[in-house]
Amino acid sequence: MRYTEDIIEEVRSRSDIVDVVSQYVKLQKKGSSYFGLCPFHNEKSPSFSVNRDKQMYYCFGCGAGGDAFAFLMEYENLNFPEAVQHLAQRAGVELPEMEESGEDRRQRDQKSALLGLQKQAAAYYHYQLKQDCGAQAREYLKGRGVSPEIIQQFGLGYAEKSGGGLYRYLKGKGYTDELLHESGLFQMDERRGMYDKFWNRVIFPITDVKNRVIGFGGRVMGDGKPKYLNSPETKIFDKSRNLYGLSRARASRKKEILICEGYMDVIAMHQAGFTNAVASLGTALTAGHASLLGRYTDEVLMLYDSDGAGVKAALRGIPLLRAAGIRAKVVDLKPYKDPDEFIKALGPEAFQERLARAQNSFLFQIRMLEAEYDLDDPQGKTDFYRAVAERLLGFTQDLERENYIEAIARQYGLPKEQLHKMVNSLALTGAGMRRQQERREIQGPENAAKKKQDTENARERAQKLMLAWMVDQPEIFGKISGYLKPEDFTTPLYRRAAKILYEQQEKEGAFTPVRVWEAFEDEEERRKMASLLNGDLPAGLDRGEGKALTDILLRILEDSLQEQRKNLKPGDIRGLQENMEKEIGLKKLKMDRGQLHISFE
Ligand code: UTP
Ligand code: MN
Repeated sequence: MRYTEDIIEEVRSRSDIVDVVSQYVKLQKKGSSYFGLCPFHNEKSPSFSVNRDKQMYYCFGCGAGGDAFAFLMEYENLNFPEAVQHLAQRAGVELPEMEESGEDRRQRDQKSALLGLQKQAAAYYHYQLKQDCGAQAREYLKGRGVSPEIIQQFGLGYAEKSGGGLYRYLKGKGYTDELLHESGLFQMDERRGMYDKFWNRVIFPITDVKNRVIGFGGRVMGDGKPKYLNSPETKIFDKSRNLYGLSRARASRKKEILICEGYMDVIAMHQAGFTNAVASLGTALTAGHASLLGRYTDEVLMLYDSDGAGVKAALRGIPLLRAAGIRAKVVDLKPYKDPDEFIKALGPEAFQERLARAQNSFLFQIRMLEAEYDLDDPQGKTDFYRAVAERLLGFTQDLERENYIEAIARQYGLPKEQLHKMVNSLALTGAGMRRQQERREIQGPENAAKKKQDTENARERAQKLMLAWMVDQPEIFGKISGYLKPEDFTTPLYRRAAKILYEQQEKEGAFTPVRVWEAFEDEEERRKMASLLNGDLPAGLDRGEGKALTDILLRILEDSLQEQRKNLKPGDIRGLQENMEKEIGLKKLKMDRGQLHISFE
């Protein structure tokens, strides 16, 4: 199902984004933008901005951003055609009749059939738990202290021993083998045909945020292997975008969400009154989980197993949460393995105390980092502080970064200004980073890879800043474009954006940011573009200073020169010539930089 570009354009031009968003979010004008509380993550001070000139919204807290269509899709959970319909109706634009394609309808029907099937299966397992055959499972749950109320609330069930019951039951309901196969609840065997995946296990139905059953986990009663068996991913079950217990946790009206690893941990916590607990589904935390959590909270407490694997999982999860605008804290459960065991042993009050003492995730990361350095050795100490400074750079908000610099300086008895200086020099030039990495490179290939990564980041930062600056102050485009071409942007994403922006200037004499955003389809790329187009700057950088702009210009040109040289084929005389000319031009530019009249006050 598709609308033509013309129709979409008409709807868009008749729908002002400020008006559209105002229907859902209270906005206040501040400068050239409107600000309000972000509807996509929990916050107390407004970091959600809507800009009429750009016809875009952007949240500086969680990174959500896009045009009016994207806003409705996100807020009302609509697909694109639905968002077009919604805005068209509002703006009084008549849409041509649209036939849903056969394929679209088939997909939609199949999904809803699968949801119906999972629901029936859950009812079946739950029923079995209450029958005679479920006695052992009931005993097992009782033995683990699970109350009848919780069994009811979570719809726990039992898959009986013979292992053909669900198949017969669902066949009886008229489901086709094809759909049963798609459900992931059955396995195929040449001899036996189709048979139940789960047998003689306690069943944990997994629901999505809307509380619809989308899959199952099943636990052996005792020591068999595997301990848990889970539904495979299906058309309705995406493990990286669902969390066990979320439909309940989101309704708990608590400020933060507790995330752990296990089904039983969620159950134990809910039973103990911590009804804001969720678990990732036997997989590591993903960006999808983080953005899902970001819709409901801005603070997550991580309760991972207190072993090495748990620490690793926490360290991997923290940046993902942070990227979704979530503050993460890490809860120490020692000497117990997981929340379930902790609560069993010490009870809810002691557990509550541990939650209250959760460690800020950044300080947790730094504590773990510290172990990798020898702080008694002066070099080790210096390297450690550099690594800390590098991480501090990750904070995009000045105040936040400032607070952490202070906290770390206090913790390690270091003058605040010194740490501050380190962070700033890393931010602006990336030179500090390079120096540090040269030293690292001597130490081994792993660090060489890290060096490459960081240089990449510094490069990207410069390119991002340049583009953000241009979009924000289009008058500098005329001054810059003589020196800098889209091809000079070495990062493919930014090169593509630069191309579009340059073209807009050429053809229309102005930027239309929303068009640039629209040209990207990938969710991650769109995020990055929304951030750039709305002036979200990399850490430690500030616009509005001619010198900084010149620095950045030179940095990009230099990177471009290097990149070009690296890709030069032997014998490519013309390429070499071009490259040398470029180098000469750059040298001249550097010499002239005093007179270089790029002043933007
Ligand atoms: P754990 O092995 O830590 O088990 O797995 P647990 O949660 O403490 O389980 P109990 O208390 O012994 O019942 C944590 C989570 O990892 C997934 C499950 O989601 C489990 O809850 N897992 C574990 C599997 O998917 N398969 C397995 O075989 C084991
Ligand atoms: Mn456990």
